[in-house]
Amino acid sequence: MKLKALALGTVAIGILALVAACGDDEAKSTTADGADYTATGKALLTSNCTGCHGGTTSPNLSTFSGVKTNRTAMLNRINNNTMPPSQSDAWKNTDKAKLVEYLTNSADFK
Ligand code: HEC
Repeated sequence: MKLKALALGTVAIGILALVAACGDDEAKSTTADGADYTATGKALLTSNCTGCHGGTTSPNLSTFSGVKTNRTAMLNRINNNTMPPSQSDAWKNTDKAKLVEYLTNSADFK
C-alpha cells in the first residue's frame, strides 16, 4: 500500500514538473507590454501570411523562430507592399499597421 502511494506520488511529481516546464515556455513568449506572440503576432500571421508561408513557401513564418529570423525581410516586403501578394481591405485597413507595429516594437524581439 505504501509502495503504491509512493509510486503515485512519483508520477504526480513527474506530471507537475512537466506542466511547470511547459508553463515556462509559455511565459517566454509573453511580452512586457502585455502582447503575446500567440495572441498578437501569430493571429496576424495566420490571417495574412502562413497560408503560403506555412512550410511550403520560404520563408517559413509558422514558428516564432522563423518570424524572428526573417523579421527585417518581412518588414521590407510589407512596407513596399509586395507582401502579402493580394492586399485585402482588412489587411490595408487594420492588419498591416498592427503587424508592422508588432514586428517593429514587440518585446518578443528585444
Ligand atoms: C498568396 C501566397 C503568399 C502570401 C499570403 C504571403 N506570401 Fe510572402 N511570398 C510568397 C511567394 C510565392 C514568395 C516568393 C516570391 C517572391 O519573393 O515574391 C514570397 C516571398 C516572401 C518574402 C521574401 C523571401 C526572400 O527570401 O526574399 C518575404 C519576407 C515574405 N514573402 C513575407 C510575407 C509576409 C510577411 C506575409 C504576410 C503579411 C506574406 N509573405 C504573405 C507568397 C505569399
